[in-house]
Amino acid sequence: MRKPALLYLIVFLLIPTAHGQKFDDLAETPPMGWNSWNTFACDIDEALIRETADAIVASGMRDAGYVYVNIDDCWHGERDEDGFIQPHPERFPSGMKALADYVHSKGLKLGIYSDAGSKTCAGRPGSQGHEYQDALQYARWGIDYLKYDWCNTGTRNAPEAYTTMRNALYAAGRPIVFSICEWGDNQPWTWAKDIGHLWRTTGDIINCWDCIIDHGSWKSPGVMQILDKQDGLRQHAGPGHWNDPDMMEVGDMDTVGENRAHFAMWAMLAAPLIAGNDVRSMTDATREILTNREVIAVDQDTLGIQGFPHKKENDIEIWFKPLAGDDWAMAILNRNAEARTVAFDWAEEHVEDALKNRRPHFDQNTFQIRDLFAHADKGKTAQPLKISVPGHDVLMYRLSKQ
Ligand code: GLA
Repeated sequence: MRKPALLYLIVFLLIPTAHGQKFDDLAETPPMGWNSWNTFACDIDEALIRETADAIVASGMRDAGYVYVNIDDCWHGERDEDGFIQPHPERFPSGMKALADYVHSKGLKLGIYSDAGSKTCAGRPGSQGHEYQDALQYARWGIDYLKYDWCNTGTRNAPEAYTTMRNALYAAGRPIVFSICEWGDNQPWTWAKDIGHLWRTTGDIINCWDCIIDHGSWKSPGVMQILDKQDGLRQHAGPGHWNDPDMMEVGDMDTVGENRAHFAMWAMLAAPLIAGNDVRSMTDATREILTNREVIAVDQDTLGIQGFPHKKENDIEIWFKPLAGDDWAMAILNRNAEARTVAFDWAEEHVEDALKNRRPHFDQNTFQIRDLFAHADKGKTAQPLKISVPGHDVLMYRLSKQ
């Protein structure tokens, strides 16, 4: 090889490093944790974050897999004279490093929030033009997760803006989960796989079953609306890069059944499980839902395949999700307020995941049925299923081949 050609080759090989890349292996299964926004919005301080970390441990959530304690918007103070962002001096008087140390001492990780524009959605300083400095500051503090929002971005190009922050995080050297939050506006599923670990697919969730709140320039979809918006996105998700249908409202829905159904469907979607309720004061019923290890195992399954609806009929939806070891998860969702009886003749149903080329072949194979909320075995797929599903609720099963 002539010398200049060799030089070009070396430069070419160095380019990916020079321009940064995404930290691999940080989200092989969907991230799990808690975020302050859904319940507290801007009313946050370090005491809340500490108490929440304590409650995540005491409730058993940490041991069930919820490790990220994420501070959303409004933690910010001003930038110092060198341009480094500081936390709000009255709300976070001990500083972020001390808070990260505390959270880490509990066996948890700390997340923070910023925005690709000049200001965050709540008007705090954004990261535009300060990306490398902010990433360095987060790394110094010991931050483990960054949610990066899309307000006040003017004419910025989304892939470019998110790539800049990805590169800044990589250059700072601390592995940080990168959560892209541009609400699905720029179809991040088509470009974000190598930029972030998860990307929001919709506007901000609201704690209602089936409604849309119109704020004028933006809308808040309820749980069923968000579920519907996941149609056609499953081929883009997988280990390391997930569709994010937003932080959960489990604990803040109207009924236990709604909380349960919301949680079950997020697990079927292989969604990040980021709780958004006040975990310090949650009911036992909410704690049991959030720490249901059999449901969490569906979400966290190592195949990382997002589930799909097999059938939608009369407000009943029957979903399947292929799992490792040739198991399948199944959810029967009743969107209606009234109870419904559902009949499902396994041998007659041609369940298939054409995208992943997986089929349970219920006509040839018999599966054991495990009820994941009752924590009980419920017979086999040898007999047709006929069962009542309460209104705004779900039945969820794990099917294991005999
Ligand atoms: C946007 C995001 C929300 C939350 C707020 C904070 O609306 O989508 O999840 O982070 O900003 O201001």
